[in-house]
Amino acid sequence: MPAQKSPKPEAEALRAEIREHDRRYYLLDDPSVSDAEYDRLMRRLQELEAEHPELVSNDSPTRRVGGGISSDFKPARHAAPMLSLDNAFEEAELRAWDERVRKNLPPGESPLYLVEPKIDGLSCALTYEHGLLVRAATRGDGATGEDVTANARAMRAVPLRLSGRPPRRLEVRGEVYMSLADFEKVNGDEARAGRQPFVNPRNCAAGSLRQKDPAVTAARRLRFAAHSYGAWEGGAEPESQSSFLALCREMGLPSNRFERCADIDAVAAYHRRFQESAMPKLGFAVDGLVIKVDSFAQQRRLGFTAKSPRWGLAFKYPARQAASMVRGVEFSVGRTGAVTPVAKLEPVFCAGVTISSVTLHNFDEVARLGLRVGDRVLIERAGEVIPKVVKVVERGRDGRDIVPPRKCPACGSPLMKEEDFVAYRCDNPSCPAQLRRTLEHFASRRAMDIAGLGESAVDQLVARGLVKDVSDIYKLTREQLLDLELFADKKAENLLAQIEASKAKPLDRALYALGIRHVGEKTAEAVAERFDVKALLSAGETDFQAVPDVGPVVAKSLSDFFASTAGKKLVRRLLDAGVKMPKPERRAAAGAPFKGMTFVFTGELTSLTREQAEELVKARGGKASGSVSAKTAYVVAGAEAGSKLKKAKELGVKVLTEEEFQKLIQ
Ligand code: IVH
Repeated sequence: MPAQKSPKPEAEALRAEIREHDRRYYLLDDPSVSDAEYDRLMRRLQELEAEHPELVSNDSPTRRVGGGISSDFKPARHAAPMLSLDNAFEEAELRAWDERVRKNLPPGESPLYLVEPKIDGLSCALTYEHGLLVRAATRGDGATGEDVTANARAMRAVPLRLSGRPPRRLEVRGEVYMSLADFEKVNGDEARAGRQPFVNPRNCAAGSLRQKDPAVTAARRLRFAAHSYGAWEGGAEPESQSSFLALCREMGLPSNRFERCADIDAVAAYHRRFQESAMPKLGFAVDGLVIKVDSFAQQRRLGFTAKSPRWGLAFKYPARQAASMVRGVEFSVGRTGAVTPVAKLEPVFCAGVTISSVTLHNFDEVARLGLRVGDRVLIERAGEVIPKVVKVVERGRDGRDIVPPRKCPACGSPLMKEEDFVAYRCDNPSCPAQLRRTLEHFASRRAMDIAGLGESAVDQLVARGLVKDVSDIYKLTREQLLDLELFADKKAENLLAQIEASKAKPLDRALYALGIRHVGEKTAEAVAERFDVKALLSAGETDFQAVPDVGPVVAKSLSDFFASTAGKKLVRRLLDAGVKMPKPERRAAAGAPFKGMTFVFTGELTSLTREQAEELVKARGGKASGSVSAKTAYVVAGAEAGSKLKKAKELGVKVLTEEEFQKLIQ
């Protein structure tokens, strides 16, 4: 990299490109690059900014996360209250509202209606001054919310700087939400890490926005859709809701889609059409439509009641709820041994499917609902797939209490309740139900990725006693597999090939695959960066705590596992079976900051040998060379450097002292 060339244009081009990819992903819903390519651009920008700190500005995409951990969210008062909308559930209510609107407008002036989806998320107000994001606040009680600026900055859907010609001050309001696909992914990760899943995408979005660590918010891919504003100062104010929404998009703010309707008949027809054709394809939860009078002049004339605007109405879809009777309760055992009560229902049709069982999550939830077998309950299937019990609607005559079983329903071992956890747990390491879930997790795509080992294959292997722990997978033979119902020739061979291939999976995946409590993918990656397998077997709690992002609970869980005889044995058995668990190649994000860069060392180094220095460069993805050219990124000059230093100066190549080099590699 010739040092004489100013890095500014490259940094600016990268920022523009990254912003464009954010816009394509979150505003246009049409990404044009892979996550890996996006990460590559981000890393290059990080490199440039690290080398040239003078280039960094607060609205650079690299500055989304970095404000540190927020211990609490300060109250944020809204300049104008954040109100809510009146609801309508029946067409008659919609028509009555339309009558009121027309009555309150001058005779002969009929309103044009704008219809937007009512996204089921949480309201958030973003304040921009001179186009820069300065504050984000949740709705709270409408008058005062919580300051979530650090976390909103971490959301790629929220521009840090508006494009076009934004007003001097804009407080834009919108819905923060999560796609169903992202929701399922987060819940999968939560479950695999042994944590309680979120109940629905709205709770998940709210929990993600109110994270203490903005990096967690960033990873959750929250979305934003602008739907209104609280302040528009110092710039021509739009004259209608439709032009406001269009202006938002011009400024780079994702905004609600909308449909214009000439009258209330068109609104009602659109409401029916939307539910049938558009809603199932949206990919996020919508609980109705919002109907607004488009013209702001008319909106001003209509004004507000004490609680809500007269110019708008939420026309909700009939609740996706149904009533049924709890016939019984079963207890399912998860991978970590947590025992989950599941209500068995009188089958009932709700929002397009027949539901005959519904998870109750845990016994605290059973207590909160006051639920007993025999009760009639209201169940709900919201946008997400998992139905839930909303409440008891009628007590059963001779109801039976739902009490935690004393013994594991799968293996009969006594159950334990851990302090501070709501779950009852089976502690038997060879419990068949846990074993099945453990094997499924071990083989799952993000773990050892053995595609042929799905639920039914696992069931058969466990039932036949062929697999007693995950290491037994590696002892399976073709004959054993062919003996099972599921496996014809080709299938058995495929599975064996996948099992063989999984032996080379890196340590981070293997660690995650082991299903140690509280150890999700991120933790596994961080731990695998610091330890190799051998070191893991002798590491203690304090060693684990030294890993970034590993707190006391996770450290204890890791050291409990690796100190236990069962844990040690399992790892040894895997190693003996040929599962190598190599250290992952240093991840490019953290590990290859010198990619594409050539270093030349000259003179005498004091803290390192020349070889060691060159190794350090290589480990970070760079190259070491003996001669200086215009392409050399840095010349590191020790004592009594001679001709190479001179050449570097002639060519304008950046020269570092040994000390500066040490800083660069930290
Ligand atoms: S307009 C005066 N438009 O629904 C309130 N709100 O009860 C003006 N919401 O808290 C809000 N989608 O968070 C508006 N397209 C949409 C909306 C929407 C969802 C939420 C909003 C508000 C609640 C209104």
